[in-house]
Amino acid sequence: MDLRLTDKVAVVTGASKGIGLAVTRALVAEGAKVVAGARSITDELVALSDTGQVLAVAVDLSEAGAPAELVSRSSHFGGLDIVVNNVGAVTPRTTGFLEVSDDDWLATLNLTLMAAVRTTRAAIPLLLERGRGTVVTICSVNAYLPDPGVVDYSATKAAVWNLSKSLSKEYGPRGLRFNTVSPGPVSTPLWLGETGVAATVAASLGVSFDEARRRIIEEAGGFSTGRFTEPEEVADLVLVLASERAGNVTGADFLIDGGFTKQL
Ligand SMILES: NC(=O)c1ccc[n+]([C@@H]2O[C@H](COP(=O)([O-])OP(=O)(O)OC[C@H]3O[C@@H](n4cnc5c(N)ncnc54)[C@H](OP(=O)(O)O)[C@@H]3O)[C@@H](O)[C@H]2O)c1
Repeated sequence: MDLRLTDKVAVVTGASKGIGLAVTRALVAEGAKVVAGARSITDELVALSDTGQVLAVAVDLSEAGAPAELVSRSSHFGGLDIVVNNVGAVTPRTTGFLEVSDDDWLATLNLTLMAAVRTTRAAIPLLLERGRGTVVTICSVNAYLPDPGVVDYSATKAAVWNLSKSLSKEYGPRGLRFNTVSPGPVSTPLWLGETGVAATVAASLGVSFDEARRRIIEEAGGFSTGRFTEPEEVADLVLVLASERAGNVTGADFLIDGGFTKQL
C-alpha cells in the first residue's frame, strides 16, 4: 500500500532512540521529511540526517519553550503536515504512592503530558495553513490499565488520551485528525535499558533482570503472542494513522500490546 507520505513534513519528539527513532526511520523510508527532536543526537540520527530528509534538533522538551522551538524548525522543509508526540518517560514507583512527591508528579506531567500540549499548540496553526494535518500521540496501555507501580505515569497517559479526543472534536471540522497509539511493553531502552523498567524493578526486588521482567509481565497476565512489541511495529501503526489512507480516522486509540490487555 502506498501511504502517500512522500515529501510530507513531520515533527517527531523523542526521536533519538526507541519508538521515536523507529518512527523517524519509517517516515524517511516512505519519502517524508522529519524534524527530529531529542536531547542527544545519536549516531542513528546523524546517519538519518545524512539523507537530507532529517533535521535533527538537540532540545530538552521538558523546558516550556522547547516544543515550540522544535516545531518552528519545520520551516526548514517548508511547512508541516504530521506531528508525532512520542516523548515520554516512566519511573517505576517501587516504594509506593506515599513516596511519590509533588516534584515527581510534576516532572512526569511536564514531559509526558505538557510536551505534547506545547508541541501540539505550536503545530496547529501550521497544520491549519496546509488545510489538512494529523497528530499521532503515543499513549500507553497504562492509560486504562492503571498500575500503582507507575501511578503518575498511568494518570498522565490517561490525560494524554483524553486530550487527543478533545482536540479531534475541536479541529475535525477544519481538517485536522488526532489519534493515539497505546503500546504495551515495547523492546526499547525505556523498558529494557540499563536504567529502564526491568532494571529498576530488579534492583528494588533484589532479583535478576530477566526475573524482574518475567514477574512484571506474568503478574499482569502475560502476552497472548508471547513477546514484547518491537518499536518498528509501533512505527508502522503510527505511519498508517499519519497517512491520509486513514483520512476518516480521528479521535481513536489503537492498542498494540500482543494481547497484554485481557479485557474488552
Ligand atoms: N517502551 C514501552 O514499553 C512503551 C509502552 C507504552 C508507551 N510507551 C511510550 O512511548 C514513548 C516512547 O517510549 P520509548 O520506549 O521509545 O522510550 P525511550 O526508549 O526511553 O526513548 C525516549 C526518547 O525520548 C527522548 N527524550 C527523553 N527525555 C527527553 C527530553 N526531556 N527532551 C527531549 N527528548 C527526550 C530520548 O532521547 P534523549 O534521552 O536523547 O533526550 C529518546 O529519544 C513514550 O511516550 C512512552 O511513554 C513506551
